[in-house]
Amino acid sequence: MRDLDVLVLGGGAAGLMCGIEAAKRGRKVMVIDHAKRPADKIRISGGGRCNFTNLHCTPANFLSQNPRFCVSALKRYTQHDFLALVDQHRIAWHEKTLGQLFCDESAKDIIRMLLDELERAGGKLQLETDIKAVEKPDDRFSVSTSKGPLRTQSLVIATGGPSIPKMGATGFGYDLAKQFGLKVIAPRAALVPLTFSDANKDLCGRLAGVSLDANVSFQKTTFREGLLFTHRGLSGPSILQISSYWEEGKPISVNLVPEADVFDVLKTARHEVPRQDLKTALGSLLPNRLADELAEVYKLKGRLADQSDKVLRRAGEQMNRWQLTPVGTEGYRTAEVTLGGIDTRELSSKTMEASKVSGLYFIGEVVDVTGHLGGFNFQWAWSSGHAAGQVV
Ligand code: FDA
Repeated sequence: MRDLDVLVLGGGAAGLMCGIEAAKRGRKVMVIDHAKRPADKIRISGGGRCNFTNLHCTPANFLSQNPRFCVSALKRYTQHDFLALVDQHRIAWHEKTLGQLFCDESAKDIIRMLLDELERAGGKLQLETDIKAVEKPDDRFSVSTSKGPLRTQSLVIATGGPSIPKMGATGFGYDLAKQFGLKVIAPRAALVPLTFSDANKDLCGRLAGVSLDANVSFQKTTFREGLLFTHRGLSGPSILQISSYWEEGKPISVNLVPEADVFDVLKTARHEVPRQDLKTALGSLLPNRLADELAEVYKLKGRLADQSDKVLRRAGEQMNRWQLTPVGTEGYRTAEVTLGGIDTRELSSKTMEASKVSGLYFIGEVVDVTGHLGGFNFQWAWSSGHAAGQVV
């Protein structure tokens, strides 16, 4: 029986950060993970370059049923603090767009940095370890694992959410929370492509590979970023962002020409180049393949001079306020994160400790705090891991 001060379940971004901070305080720390390698999601993130934080990170970049919960942890360990650590390890980085910071070389640099920090602080990492049962018979936790039993004073759950099960993601944290009587906000896939049926699916399929800058809205929330047509539906950053807000059965609105009022542009063109084809006029505003398809689908044909205001207004509506209702998402198979998770009303926003179970902590993606696309999810992992690491 190994006796520990701190046992962290899950050696991903949040778990490693918490382990480092606790070990720096002289606590006897072990981080365990069922995977062969630690932090596999860091490895594949940001196309292999890890978008490790965002310069403009604020609590407004996070979704939660309790939006104020993330404020304290984000304030006490900021994007600048993480950047200072990256600089200390001489990892070269660059800002790609919208404050998103990526490694110049490889995401593996971030993993190496975390493992070096953990080792230097005296924390242990044990991989390929399955967790069989967790109990709290007295004031300490007993955890039985495939590599033997462990006892610990503080137990930190950092097992993430179920997105991308093929990578070893599980709903373990939710089951454990329920075992200890804590509420879980129903999880669902987020930052995920949207899928369509019928005519819209066929349209997307015909346009697969076409991308453009678009405004994508759901109710009062709008994102202006890239949009990509795929064989299954719509993807690209603007769609991934809106997927976190979208509600089943309701439409999203896509502005394919955010720079211009298409009705106004077409009216002006009708005056200036009346012999121009409507389809050609649309082609000056949209990628050609998209203009051709939309003209076909919405029967926008003929010379501009022959178009009534009604037809041009309809064309403008289609381009500036295209309403379409997804049938679903691509699900956990491709989702970058999981919305929902441990109800934050069960946790202290300062320490991440469960108020009903002393010594039990939840950090990272397993908690009902979900960031926008752009480095915010890792920042939550660093900040929440750091917060727990100060007290466990
Ligand atoms: P994380 O999932 O990282 O770690 C959990 C760990 O627990 C894993 O190592 C897992 O093996 C282990 N585990 C799970 N169940 C277990 C069990 N039952 N027993 C033992 N161990 C168990 N975010 C961002 O900010 N910038 C980016 O560039 C990207 N890019 C990106 C790309 C892709 C493809 C994905 C899927 C996700 C991203 N993300 C991202 C999101 C980001 O990866 C995610 O929010 C964090 O990894 C969450 O960190 P956690 O430590 O909470 O969980």
